[in-house]
Amino acid sequence: MFSLSCRTAARSLRPSHFSFASEVAAAPAVVRCAATKRAASTAAAAQINNDTPPEYHTPSGEQRTPLSAEQKAFLDGALRVNQAGELAAVLIYLSQTPPIVRSHPHLRPLMKHMLDQEKGHFDTFNHLLAKHRIRPTIMYPAWTVASTVLGWGTGILGREAAMACTEAVETEIGQHYNEQVAELLEWERRLQAKGEELGPELSELLKNLRRIRDEELEHLDHAVENDAKEARPYELLTNVIRGGCRAAIWLTEKV
Ligand SMILES: [Fe+2]
Ligand SMILES: [Fe+2]
Repeated sequence: MFSLSCRTAARSLRPSHFSFASEVAAAPAVVRCAATKRAASTAAAAQINNDTPPEYHTPSGEQRTPLSAEQKAFLDGALRVNQAGELAAVLIYLSQTPPIVRSHPHLRPLMKHMLDQEKGHFDTFNHLLAKHRIRPTIMYPAWTVASTVLGWGTGILGREAAMACTEAVETEIGQHYNEQVAELLEWERRLQAKGEELGPELSELLKNLRRIRDEELEHLDHAVENDAKEARPYELLTNVIRGGCRAAIWLTEKV
């Protein structure tokens, strides 16, 4: 089990500008503690991670399981989508706020609260992309324009349409975060079955994803409480926005 007595990585094992290779180098996905290491035979270790090259050892000789190529690809795509999604959320709330607050001044604190949280989410993923040298999506300029237009357009349509937009976006993004949380929990479950644990950076990511997911779902609740379902035409509006979100997520994961 992971404990503070476990030494974390100290040297760069596979220099690369791509994805979570830097995490493998800077902070291992998994650190096998001395007790666990003693218990595991070489054969078992090979079975756990049959492509682990010998350099995936800390200077002290502790073994650690690196992220697989598939896991790195998952994290690259997920974090790229998260950053783009949070950019969109910030721009939607920024664009909606002036018309909504002008016609409904009592919503100023709520709009500010949601915008401030989105800015915090955006900062989180900007930091993670820079830290792990993950490139942002090439669709970044397009999403900038699209989300500004969406926010401005629904803000002009009125409070209900703006809230329906929030409901639709947060439904999709909340589900998206939930899938990422489920994936990391599955990694953790598989590792724990082998006497290993997620490394500190992945544990921190899991904690952040849960917090952000919960805040997105809080926004969804605020939207419903503020008459999102009174928007006309509600079904058309929310279905178009949700379809757009799904398409954007799909595209952003790839490019
Ligand atoms: Fe957000
Ligand atoms: Fe949100």
